[in-house]
Amino acid sequence: MNSFVYDIPTRVYFGPDQLDNLGKEVSAFGKKALLCYGGGSIKKSGLYDRVMAQLKAAGMEVFELSGIDPNPRVSSVNAGADICKKEKIDVLLAVGGGSVLDCTKYIGAAAYYDGDGWDILLDKVPVEQCLPIVTVLTLAATGSEMDSGGVISNPETKDKIGRMFPPMQPKVSFLDPTETYSVSKYQTACGSSDILSHLLEIYFVPEGGSMYMLDCFMEGMIKTVMKYAPIAMEQPDHYEARANLMWTSSWAINGFAGALQNCEWTCHPIEHELSAIYDITHGLGLAIVTPRWMRYVLDVTTAHRFYQYGVNVFGIDPSLPEMEVAEKSIEMTADFLFGKLGLASTLTEIGIDDSNFDIMAEKACGGGILQGYKPLNREDIRKILTMCL
Ligand code: NZQ
Ligand code: ZN
Repeated sequence: MNSFVYDIPTRVYFGPDQLDNLGKEVSAFGKKALLCYGGGSIKKSGLYDRVMAQLKAAGMEVFELSGIDPNPRVSSVNAGADICKKEKIDVLLAVGGGSVLDCTKYIGAAAYYDGDGWDILLDKVPVEQCLPIVTVLTLAATGSEMDSGGVISNPETKDKIGRMFPPMQPKVSFLDPTETYSVSKYQTACGSSDILSHLLEIYFVPEGGSMYMLDCFMEGMIKTVMKYAPIAMEQPDHYEARANLMWTSSWAINGFAGALQNCEWTCHPIEHELSAIYDITHGLGLAIVTPRWMRYVLDVTTAHRFYQYGVNVFGIDPSLPEMEVAEKSIEMTADFLFGKLGLASTLTEIGIDDSNFDIMAEKACGGGILQGYKPLNREDIRKILTMCL
C-alpha cells in the first residue's frame, strides 16, 4: 500500500443561510474582488444580488467577469487575468458550476504570469502562486469546489486539458443545496454521471490501490448518487437529495477516497477528447463511455473488482459466478445512466461519428499507454470509442 499525504485545505460552509458569512470570508483577503460567473443562471436565481449585497456590506470594491462558458475557454482565463493585473485584484470569487470555478482557478494562476494562460495548461510555466479563491457552488458535479484541479478548452487547437496545482485549491467554498434547485433535469443527470465517474475512476484500481475502509466509503457514495439523482430530477427542490448529491460531489474527488490510487484515470481522458472537439456536456460523454470501457476491460484478471462492485453496490447475489455478477454490474450501471438518468446512450444519437477517433485516441493516451485499471493504448481507446457509436 502506498503512503500518502492527506491535506484538504478548503473551509466549507454547507447549508442554507451560510452565505451570510460570505462578506466576512472574502474581505479577509483584501478589498478588491473579481466576481466570476457564467451565462446568467445566477442572475435568474437571485444569487447574484445576494452575493453583491454581501460584498457591498463588507466594503468590497467589485469587478466582474461574466460569460464563462461550459467547457470554459482559455480566452476567459486571459480576460480575467488581464483584469486582475490592471485592477490589482486581491481575491477571486467564483459563483457557478465547475466551469466557472475551473476558469477562476486559472485566472488566479495566470494573474502571476505575463504570457498566454494556455502556457499553464501546457505545463510550460510552474504554478507557484495563485490569487486566493472563494467559491459559491451552484451545481453538484465536478468537485472543483474542494480540489486543486481545473479543465480548460482551447477551441483553436481543439484541446481540452486538465491539471492540478495546489495553489489553485479554493480557500473557502459555500455549498448551499438550495442553490441547486434551479439546475435542469439534464444538468442534474450529467452532474450525477460525473460524480459517479469520479468514484468509478478511483474504485477500479489494481490490488493495493484502495483499502477496505475506502472501498466502503466509495460504495456508499456510489449508492448515494444512484439513490438521490433520480429523486432530484423528479423533485428539484428535494433538499435531502440535493444535499446528498452536493456533499458527495465534493468528497468523490477531494483526494480522500482516492488517496491510495495506483493507476491513471481512463474514462475522463477519453471523454475530454469528446468535449474538446464536439463541446458536449462532460457528464453526458462520461455516461456514454463508461459502460463501454467497463465491457472492454472486463476479463478474468479484472472481474474480481466488478464482482465486488456488483455485490456491494447493486446487491447482486454473491453466490453467482464471478463473471456473471461482473457482467450484470455493467448492465446495471448502463441501466442507471441511460434508464434512470435518461441520458443519450450512443455517440451516434448525439451526432458524433468516427471521423476524429484516430486523433482522439492518440491524444487520450498521450501517444503512449494510459496506465489505467487495465492499461490501454491508442488502438484500445479507438475500439472503446467505436463501441460507443
Ligand atoms: O453558465 P450558467 O448560466 O451559470 O449556466 C450553467 C451552465 O449552462 C448551468 N448552471 C449552473 N448552475 C446552475 C445552472 N443552471 C441553473 N441553475 C443553477 N444553479 O449549468 C450549465 C453547466 O455548467 P458547468 O459549470 O459547465 O457544469 P459542471 O459543473 O458540470 O462543470 C463542467 C466542467 O468542469 C470540468 C468539466 O470537464 C467541464 O469543463 N471538470 C472539472 C473537474 C475539476 N475541477 O476537478 C473535474 C471534472 O472531471 C471535470 O472534468
Ligand atoms: Zn468529471
